[in-house]
Amino acid sequence: MTTAAASAAPPVLEVRGIRHGYGAKPVLDGIDLTVPRGQFVGLVGPSGCGKTTLLNAIVGTHPPNAGEVFVYRNGQRLAVAGPSRHVGIVYQRYSLFPDLTALDNVAIGPLLDRTSIPGRWLQPLRTRRLLAGVRDEARALLGTVGLHDAVDRFPHQLSGGMCQRVAIAQALIMKPELLLLDEPFGALDEAMREQMQELLLQLHRANAAAAAAGQPAPHTVVMVTHELNEALYVGHRVLALSQHWDWRGAGLPKASGARLVYDKATPGVLAGERPDSARYEAQRAELRAVAFDPTRPCHPTMHLTYGRSIAPAPAGAPAVALEARP
Ligand SMILES: Nc1ncnc2c1ncn2[C@@H]1O[C@H](COP(=O)(O)OP(=O)(O)OP(=O)(O)O)[C@@H](O)[C@H]1O
Ligand SMILES: [Mg+2]
Repeated sequence: MTTAAASAAPPVLEVRGIRHGYGAKPVLDGIDLTVPRGQFVGLVGPSGCGKTTLLNAIVGTHPPNAGEVFVYRNGQRLAVAGPSRHVGIVYQRYSLFPDLTALDNVAIGPLLDRTSIPGRWLQPLRTRRLLAGVRDEARALLGTVGLHDAVDRFPHQLSGGMCQRVAIAQALIMKPELLLLDEPFGALDEAMREQMQELLLQLHRANAAAAAAGQPAPHTVVMVTHELNEALYVGHRVLALSQHWDWRGAGLPKASGARLVYDKATPGVLAGERPDSARYEAQRAELRAVAFDPTRPCHPTMHLTYGRSIAPAPAGAPAVALEARP
């Protein structure tokens, strides 16, 4: 899928006016964002600027002080009011169940989702059949992330990179509308990082196959990373969040929290276009200057070009409250 095609797709995520702070300390100062279905977005920003705070607001674990988040599913606009199966998240520090094999770590999500505690007691046969089915799904997914040989291993028998892949399979098996990755490869060495980037390219290929079959893209990804190269390489679009912005020239006060200061299409490596190394380097330098250099604050709207090309979500469309995960 090309960047242009991704921007024409209907939205999966709509963030409206998110503000958040801790005590008197403002962290996020008005975040608006629309992500179309099938898009892969890299999100960068200085340490402590609020990237995790923004993802936590989107996933619904920590509702923001102000603003709203909507997720679209089958054309329905769902208001995020808490964690749900529609938004998956993988953190840098994965947390697997230590007493379950890789297979059951992945299978447990759908099993719990499709059964209740009394149901598991009262209908053991049905539960066993269901478990066999979700284990098949989990096995296939572990194959996709390159862990066919490790399905029966426990987390202490897996490397960090393997555990991280199990965590990604755990998120993917729930078929979320939106997958959030918060520095998922941060603790991995260079070689393992490259393998994980290859996994993202596989998700991208699954989107391309769906597009070829006339189906909606199954994967939409927002990934926080501290590696600018990674953000430019694995995404269609790169966003930067930063507290270093200055609108005084426009008659507004100085920064009181982070805003999106950069929103542009990437050089198109993921989209399968011919990589243009000069453009790549220029964008990397621009991104570094705009988001990370506190001595050079600039008017944020200067670098927010991509978002403007996306058709806004239908204003005021009725939203259904998204059920919280049991
Ligand atoms: N629960 C909390 N209570 C108080 N302050 C918090 C809390 N969580 C985060 N903060 C502060 O809010 C700011 C934003 O934190 P956040 O973790 O969102 O940043 P980040 O961009 O993800 O940083 P990093 O790149 O280091 O992961 C930081 O200054 C942090 O110290
Ligand atoms: Mg963080």
